[in-house]
Amino acid sequence: MRILSGIQSSGKQHLGNYYGAIRQFVRYQDQGEALYFIANLHALTTVKDGPTARTLTQQTAMAFLALGLDPAKACIFRQSDIPEVLELYWILGTVVPQSNLERAHSFKDKVAKGIAPDFGLFAYPVLMAADILLYAADGVPVGKDQVQHLEFTRDWATKFNLAYVPGYDAADSTGARTGRPGLLKVPEALVEQETAVVLGTDGEKMSKSYNNTIDLFADDAEVKRRIMGIRTDSTPVEAPKPLDSPLYALLKLVLPPADFADVDRAWRAGGRGYGDFKKALLAGFHAGFDGARARYRQLEARPAEVEHILADGAARARALAAPVIAGVRKAVGL
Ligand code: ADP
Ligand code: TRP
Repeated sequence: MRILSGIQSSGKQHLGNYYGAIRQFVRYQDQGEALYFIANLHALTTVKDGPTARTLTQQTAMAFLALGLDPAKACIFRQSDIPEVLELYWILGTVVPQSNLERAHSFKDKVAKGIAPDFGLFAYPVLMAADILLYAADGVPVGKDQVQHLEFTRDWATKFNLAYVPGYDAADSTGARTGRPGLLKVPEALVEQETAVVLGTDGEKMSKSYNNTIDLFADDAEVKRRIMGIRTDSTPVEAPKPLDSPLYALLKLVLPPADFADVDRAWRAGGRGYGDFKKALLAGFHAGFDGARARYRQLEARPAEVEHILADGAARARALAAPVIAGVRKAVGL
């Protein structure tokens, strides 16, 4: 089982990225082969400033390492270090129906938020599919919002295989029966249901584009400001608190189960104010992430070490990509 996933370096990493993605990445690296990359080409769809893009790429790499991705267990690399991905992106694009891209949720959402749609944003899911197919990944851990992209990836891999592998049977993609495996492996999405959507300080999905995040590596004052600013209602101190509050959801996520059980009792019974619960969340955040935060500061002081890890990861990823891209080139007549 080869696991692969990526995170865009389009902003600072937050609790949603950790619980929705990186925590699963850490788990999977202990179970088998894993590849994790910084999607810095995808980030260009939103970050239109070179120095900022470079800084965010570096910060995402440091976040990966600080949060427990281990280069001794997983291959950690930068998307842009593997030029073959752009070659596959183009070739794959020639079997992608335009109508699929027109109904992509991520595209429609971003346009609805006021981002001026350019070709890169429109073509985003094709590059994501190329990311996955280039390394013949079996499983892709992603948040719920990415599931449609995985469905597209499966459809396009199948289309490509049907077009270029004589005798390919979509119902037998590994060729167990026909002896005709696809050139592109059809991957599975791995979605964690329990933490499928992490709520932000305003109760909407936590996302850097909604300015409602709690950033993992912000300074202490900023973390405090964000947590104390979580939206709450006017339920009086003595009354039981509503269970649909984003504060409650975050406490459940961040506190260890035994600590949460105490908080949960008080939440349901009444008698404790929101300010108190926010302080419990702040303490839980520090207990959970101060180790990673200290590692992040250490890595900041050692950029050459981070570079070395990424270069090594890229060399390994490129070796896995080589046979796939060679097969594709040959099949399409290049
Ligand atoms: P953002 O929404 O802040 O732009 P990204 O789209 O870059 O975050 O997400 C990177 C990864 O983190 C994806 O796998 C995504 O599913 C996951 N993720 C981001 N925000 C959340 C959230 N609020 N809840 C669960 N997972 C999330
Ligand atoms: N689109 C993903 C996100 O925003 C990032 C990503 C790019 C990705 N390429 C990928 C995730 C390949 C998994 C596999 O979160």
